[in-house]
Parts: sequence; C-alpha cells; structure tokens
Amino acid sequence: MFLEARSLVKRYPGGDKPALGGVSLQVGKGEFLAVAGQSGSGKSTLLGILSALALPDSGSVLYRGADIVPAGEKARNRLRARDFAFIFQHHHLMPYLTVLENTLLPFMNQIRPISGQWKEKGLRVLERVGLGHKARSRPGELSGGEQQRVAIARALARDASVLFADEPTGSLDSQTGSGVMDLLKELNRGGLTVIMVTHNQDYAALADRLISMKDGVIL
Ligand SMILES: Nc1ncnc2c1ncn2[C@@H]1O[C@H](COP(=O)(O)OP(=O)(O)OP(=O)(O)O)[C@@H](O)[C@H]1O
Ligand SMILES: [Mg+2]
Repeated sequence: MFLEARSLVKRYPGGDKPALGGVSLQVGKGEFLAVAGQSGSGKSTLLGILSALALPDSGSVLYRGADIVPAGEKARNRLRARDFAFIFQHHHLMPYLTVLENTLLPFMNQIRPISGQWKEKGLRVLERVGLGHKARSRPGELSGGEQQRVAIARALARDASVLFADEPTGSLDSQTGSGVMDLLKELNRGGLTVIMVTHNQDYAALADRLISMKDGVIL
C-alpha cells in the first residue's frame, strides 16, 4: 500500500475526547481521496499526521511500506521536503517575495540568487498553473484563486508524490474554486496522489473516493 494509517489515536492537551479515536485508512498511489466531516471532526488532525507534520499518540503511518512515526525528526523533515506537498485554506505565501520566489521557496536557502536553471523550473510550473505572466508580481497583487495557484505551483516545483490539501477552495468563490479543482484533477491524472479536505459536496464528488469523519473516527 502506498500510504496507510493504522489505528491512529491523537489527544490534545485539555481535550475531553480524542481528536482521532483510532483511525485506519489506505490510500493507493495516484488516488484522489476527499475527506469530509463537520468542523472539529478531526480532518486537519488526520492530514497533519499522515503528512508527517504531527505525531500521533499511538498508531502508525506507513508510507511506501515504512512507518514514518518512529522515523525521527530528520527523516520526517526530509519526507516533507521531498515527497509531500501542502496547500491550505489560506495560502501562506510570503508577501515580500515575488510569485516566482514564492514558487521556489522550498529551495530558496540553496539557490539564492535564483539561477537560470531554477528560474526556468519555476517559470515552467507557473505556466502549468496559468500564471507565467505573473512571475514578477507580489502575492498582494493577485486574486485569491491566483494566490492559491501559486501555492499549487510551489507544490509542483518540488515534484512531490502526495499533495495534502486542507480546504484548498475554502476561501475562494465558486468559479475560482472550480478552476483550482480542475487543476488538482489534472495533476492527479498526471500521477499525483491527492488527499483533500473539503466541505464542498460538488468538489468531493470529483474525487475517486470520499470518506467522512465524525468525532475522530471515519464513518
Ligand atoms: N492544537 C490543538 N490544541 C487543542 N485541541 C485541538 C488542537 N487542534 C485541534 N484541536 C481539537 O481537536 C479536534 C479536531 O480538530 P481538527 O482541527 O482536526 O478538526 P477539523 O475536522 O479539521 O475541523 P474544521 O473543519 O473546523 O477545520 C477539535 O475538537 C479541536 O478542537
Ligand atoms: Mg480543519
């Protein structure tokens, strides 16, 4: 199995019931999985643990057969830098950097100033999300959907194999949201595994599979 969660339990300090109460899940390579469920049901907690951003209290997460929970901070950081990419409801772009610099942000400590080869790569992924012409703009000069597409371009620049998206269309109007969904579908068809939290039923229906969470478990 490509990515698998086994009996994940997670409690936050002060919480009376666990945020995750024993979640098991399998995700195939190239699958597009949607995660639904009411606010507070544990969706973001699950995504955070699957993507090695956070640790469970117990349980395991197997990525390509290896448990990433006991793997250690260094290995988990490497995984996040190399294989996993993230987009969130709010895009986390750096306002003082250009669109191109934001796209290449994961590499910025290695490549400052941006060299020809990296610039080409950045421009290539920006073209793929339809933003080649905005490379020199700042995030503040873009629309919400364009900003979200920069976040997707940043994920693409890293050649990630899994994209974790936590309500990527949550702050967008429906037309802009559809554009972002089209892009995610297209990337998925190209082989990218996508795990997406969404409250939107129409978008959830575009996924290969939909799971619903309630009170920290999958229904
Ligand atoms: N850092 C934290 N500290 C304490 N409790 C937390 C923390 N993060 C989440 N929780 C609690 O854990 C539970 C699950 O939260 P989570 O963020 O995973 O829900 P969610 O399904 O993503 O909700 P939403 O749709 O509102 O984003 C909630 O009861 C929440 O209050
Ligand atoms: Mg959430």
